[in-house]
Amino acid sequence: MNLDSSVTREMTRVPFTDLGAMAGEVWPEIEQDYLACLLDGAYIGGPAVTAFEREWAAYCGADHVVGLGSGTDALWLSLTALGVGPGDEVVVPANTFIATAAAVVRAGATPRFADVSGDTLLMTADTLAEAITPRTRAVIVVHLYGQMPNMAGLAAVAQQKGIAIIEDAAQAHGAEWGGRRAGSFGAVACFSFYPAKNLGAFGDAGAVVTSRPELADEIRSLANHGRSHGRSHYDHDRIGTNSRLDALQAILLSGKLAHLDEWTERRIALASRYREQLGERELTRTGLKLTATAPLARHVYHLFVVRVARRDRVRAELARRGIQTGVHYPLPCHKQPPLRRLTERPLPVAERAAAEVLSLPMFPHMADRQVDYVCESLSVALRAAAADSETAHVQ
Ligand SMILES: Cc1ncc(COP(=O)(O)O)c(C=O)c1O
Repeated sequence: MNLDSSVTREMTRVPFTDLGAMAGEVWPEIEQDYLACLLDGAYIGGPAVTAFEREWAAYCGADHVVGLGSGTDALWLSLTALGVGPGDEVVVPANTFIATAAAVVRAGATPRFADVSGDTLLMTADTLAEAITPRTRAVIVVHLYGQMPNMAGLAAVAQQKGIAIIEDAAQAHGAEWGGRRAGSFGAVACFSFYPAKNLGAFGDAGAVVTSRPELADEIRSLANHGRSHGRSHYDHDRIGTNSRLDALQAILLSGKLAHLDEWTERRIALASRYREQLGERELTRTGLKLTATAPLARHVYHLFVVRVARRDRVRAELARRGIQTGVHYPLPCHKQPPLRRLTERPLPVAERAAAEVLSLPMFPHMADRQVDYVCESLSVALRAAAADSETAHVQ
């Protein structure tokens, strides 16, 4: 019997992530507060939300946090509060989740796509500068995969052109650049607490982080049907929406926040283990390329992304060996059907990356031996994919 292909697969199956393990670790610490809130019946806003907002502001090194219903709403409401709307353009990287660009469209403005660095797959000062036009009002800098781009370079371009920086930090809880945390650079920063994020809720949730009190007030009002602080329940100062953070989610998020640094350190250790083992294989003409980490960045590894040739074949082999993988993202944002009409120029780095990126399992409760198994399996998968393509050439 071939141990490699049956017994090993059963014994060492590696999920892409393990949300249950995180919930299980935190639950005993929050159970009482959670049940008390459940029985009390005050489910929206209230002291648990205010407490989490304070904790998250302190963690990010900013003055204000507004808890919201999702990261997408955080982006949309931030743009609206900054006065971005019809006739305006907002630069977004081509390599991002569609929510970044969709928020611009929902605000009534037009996304302008910027290409990314071939090393980090993040926007650069040069690609930002290329995308700016006289109508550009803002840039959404995306800390994709858990890594912040060169913020000094981006801030210099934004300042020179007089445009606002919005951080899309949906994947970057606790990430840093030059010792400063995600959330403390832009006019506003937008976080998602979607369950699979590094700090994830039991459902959808998000937040805006800012040190500008007037923006915090405006976003809080927009997210609460246009009500403003101190006014009666049925006084509405503006047309808003309903996007508030629930108390039960806030209790969980506060509980998980106490573990975030320890979980992030574990992600970083797992990434080093991946890098050590895959770095050697990268050099051996397997078609494998690692995503670079910039020297000033503290990468929090929401995702561990590599690039491979013949991705479908590689993924199929990994799946056969019981390893779940992801692709972030198979189509660059500017090629998505509802956004295609807005793209006037090719963005070759993002387009090529979309065909090659592969996200390997990454979660704080992952064991070292699981990383080792993924690395060994990836070698096998890369060789199998290369052999297939050689056979295809000969035929
Ligand atoms: C880069 C990025 N931006 C925005 C979002 C939107 O966040 P949410 O799912 O909380 O609306 C996500 C979530 O997946 C994301 O990864």
